Amino acid sequence: MRERKDVCMNSKEREGASYERVTDQQLQDQLNYYRERAPEYDDWWYRRGTFNHGDEANRIWFDEVSMVKESFKAEHFEGDFLELAAGTGTWSCLFLKEARTLTVVDGSVEMLSHNPVVAEPNVRTIIADLFSWSPDQLYDSVAFTFWISHLPRERLVGFFTMVSRCLKTGGKMFFVDDREVAGTRESHVVGASGQTMIRKLNNGDHAIIVKNFFGDKDIQQIASKVGIELHVHCTPTYFQYGVGSKTV
Ligand SMILES: C[S@@+](CC[C@H](N)C(=O)[O-])C[C@H]1O[C@@H](n2cnc3c(N)ncnc32)[C@H](O)[C@@H]1O
Repeated sequence: MRERKDVCMNSKEREGASYERVTDQQLQDQLNYYRERAPEYDDWWYRRGTFNHGDEANRIWFDEVSMVKESFKAEHFEGDFLELAAGTGTWSCLFLKEARTLTVVDGSVEMLSHNPVVAEPNVRTIIADLFSWSPDQLYDSVAFTFWISHLPRERLVGFFTMVSRCLKTGGKMFFVDDREVAGTRESHVVGASGQTMIRKLNNGDHAIIVKNFFGDKDIQQIASKVGIELHVHCTPTYFQYGVGSKTV
């Protein structure tokens, strides 16, 4: 696996920028955006329509997706598996293959209605707001994909505290998200300011969402504070991902 930790650093972090806090209404607007985007969401993942940047760019995207998937598989996740913000299930099928049971949590029924795993007998589906949800059992594995970048900076410690509470000692966690250089150049991005980004839907509507690009070391340090030893890496162009385990 090639790593480019130098360019993984977050430019806004380097500048030491300060940010306005994200309001509860903005978090609600973000969830509403995903409700509306649900039918078109997978175009981004499969590089269809306006996300199709040509054969070479698509090949690099899918190669890097494979790199991250291989890194995940190499860690042998297992047991009772929790996926937060599961959405349309771009990763849920892979997680289910490794799991005894899979619990998927998301605030959008519309996103989950496209997720193929929800019909499986060993899958539990929870519709909940992740900013107030807390687990009712312990898990062997916890994952969240393309979710960490939608967390307000001021809520990152709280979120990782919740993740740690979900995990058994020795339990494993995994995340993947956009790298800044790629995440800001997608065709649905109209603008960005502070912790937010303006996104465009296919019908022309615009929505403001939270979009942060956290530095590898910042994520590792926060995870460490809540008892998760996490190793964060980047693929050459598109993705930041991390694999870790709860040590206490
Ligand atoms: C960028 S999508 C990621 C979906 C999927 N994990 C993936 O990798 O494609 C973000 C997901 O977070 C969900 N979401 C947004 N705000 C939420 C909230 N407050 N509580 C629970 N889920 C939320 C959305 O419905 C959406 O499914």
